[in-house]
Amino acid sequence: MTTAQGIEALSHEHRHFPPPPDFAAKANAQPGIYEEAEADYQAFWASWARKLEWMKPFTKTLEWNEPFAKWFSDGELNACVNALDRHVRGGKGSRIAYYYEGEPGDRWTITYQQLLDDVCRFANGLRKLGVKKGDRVAIYMPMIPELPVAMLACARIGAAHSVIFGGFSPDSIVDRVNDSQCVALITADQGWRRGKKIALKANCDEAMKETPSIKHCIVAKRVGDPVEMKEGRDVWWHDAIGGQSAQCEPERMNAEDLLFLLYTSGTTAKPKGIKHTTGGYLTGVTSTHKLVFDLKDDDVYWCAADIGWVTGHSYIVYGPLCNGATSVIYEGTPDFPDKDRLWEIVERYKVNILYTAPTAIRTFMKWGVEYPQKHDLSSLRLLGSVGEPINPEAWMWYRDHIGGGKCPVVDTWWQTETGGIMISPLPGLTTTLPGSATHPLPGIGVDIVNDKNESVPLGGGGYIVLTRPWPSMLRGIWGDDERYKETYWSKFPHKYLAGDGCRRDHEGNYWFMGRIDDVMNVSGHRISTTEIESALVEHPRVAEAAVVGKVDDVTGQAIVAFVSLRGSDAGSHDLGDELRKHVGEKLGKFTTPKYLTFTQELPKTRSGKIMRRLLRDIAEGRMLGDTTTLADSSVVAELQERAKTEVHTEE
Ligand code: PRX
Repeated sequence: MTTAQGIEALSHEHRHFPPPPDFAAKANAQPGIYEEAEADYQAFWASWARKLEWMKPFTKTLEWNEPFAKWFSDGELNACVNALDRHVRGGKGSRIAYYYEGEPGDRWTITYQQLLDDVCRFANGLRKLGVKKGDRVAIYMPMIPELPVAMLACARIGAAHSVIFGGFSPDSIVDRVNDSQCVALITADQGWRRGKKIALKANCDEAMKETPSIKHCIVAKRVGDPVEMKEGRDVWWHDAIGGQSAQCEPERMNAEDLLFLLYTSGTTAKPKGIKHTTGGYLTGVTSTHKLVFDLKDDDVYWCAADIGWVTGHSYIVYGPLCNGATSVIYEGTPDFPDKDRLWEIVERYKVNILYTAPTAIRTFMKWGVEYPQKHDLSSLRLLGSVGEPINPEAWMWYRDHIGGGKCPVVDTWWQTETGGIMISPLPGLTTTLPGSATHPLPGIGVDIVNDKNESVPLGGGGYIVLTRPWPSMLRGIWGDDERYKETYWSKFPHKYLAGDGCRRDHEGNYWFMGRIDDVMNVSGHRISTTEIESALVEHPRVAEAAVVGKVDDVTGQAIVAFVSLRGSDAGSHDLGDELRKHVGEKLGKFTTPKYLTFTQELPKTRSGKIMRRLLRDIAEGRMLGDTTTLADSSVVAELQERAKTEVHTEE
């Protein structure tokens, strides 16, 4: 968690890695690209947009009615046609779109032609069930090929998808489905995770007791155990596509029609449905995928994220497919059956480009170099990192032990809201530094400002803001324009507030320092402190709760909960376990607090505001700052004492 001091803090990194000359000579991004984009950023984006296939070409580039953007708004296109039909028509039908590797070891390849056929059949199946243009469809699936098929089928018929990460609980499904009134829910019987079966359909059954808008639940068979199927509502995937043609007329979509919603945590308990539309989003993800990952025709590319998060949407599904890439999809965890699974996959498919998260890299470091060393990783030529700040040590380890000291490392900063990568090296042009995302991409306007909205000179830190619209930017929050304006556009006029602290060194490189708001980043997952607090206070024995993030060696941040109980209840180890479990059940296991401390009182100001800064200091074991505004200063001494004996789990 970034504090005021954190924003001021300066680290010094002197290691510089210029692009290898042979890489630079062949790179997709060549010198001049920044200047070209800067000369006319709208023309730059329009030229990328024209690389897509339009059913009706656009004549307008940007209409900016701050803070609402429209890009290419008189053009028409279909995202699925751009991802699939275009390549098949161009003679690339037999090209592999995905190498699929299931956790139990099942493997197969899916060509562009096969993917198109599967998508068309499923799209026809959806239409037959009554799903139509303008609807919203929820998708709650494991990492199986049916997941991208379901997304693309929705795109084909003009229904917006709302993918809900498979780790979320039934309650989280309910909130998301009801917020946007989804008409269908696509899931699987179960999923595989570290050899265990995850009860996806059962979670949907639980959720569907409270989601009246859902007319149909379509269930892909992944594991094969029997699941309940409710007559008239539930349909097996194989029945939905049974007898369906592999031809399906795509809808003509306006560039500004909704392509998908993706819910993300904000500073309140209610997740925000981030809206992404068709033309601008595809322009953003195809261009950045091509430039940042330097994608070449014969590359095998692997983004090891989950499609349930934005990284998977943009860099497993839409970016790579629109670029005609060959990608890997892996269903399970990196330690199943052993800790070398990822490296085995890299070797098997001769992966050239790998994109993963700092948490994963730090975990691999902990496991030891013997696991990657068992495999031939010489096919790799480029490495990417995403999701949280990467510490220089992890960056160097990644470069040395995975990249063999020869691959450029691109640390890519972006958000669900930005749709695509915003700040990142271009691997053939940029000199990289361990731990820095380096520079904004061509066409992107960024600044760092202080509390007074003044641009901070090089060498200083502050709030990162985006200073001009970009094609893949969010178009707002589903059903809540006010929250959109308030969250992103109100603190500094005419600037998009990303919510991250960042500093620029004297060379202008960007160094991210974590969130400045009440959002935690645990293993690259955005989790709101408020969401966890409200889950805790729902428990009958809890009176009040405050949640903060604490620095964690592996997961970036860990969740720390301070809980005061009703009456004279002092709590117990068992109750601590029960409360942590309660949060996991309520929101999803990945949100389970790692630390939990009981306290008689939470530290509050005289006006009754919980003093989070103080709690963060206590959680981190730091010297305490000024506590003079505290209503009852004995609370702090008690908390410090208790924090030493806190209930703690190593999950
Ligand atoms: O705090 C930043 C962090 O992740 C947040 C966005 O989270 P989400 O919308 O879930 O998207 C994650 C995948 C793009 C940001 O506000 N973040 C993401 N990438 C980086 C990062 N922080 C530092 N460096 C990064 N490369």
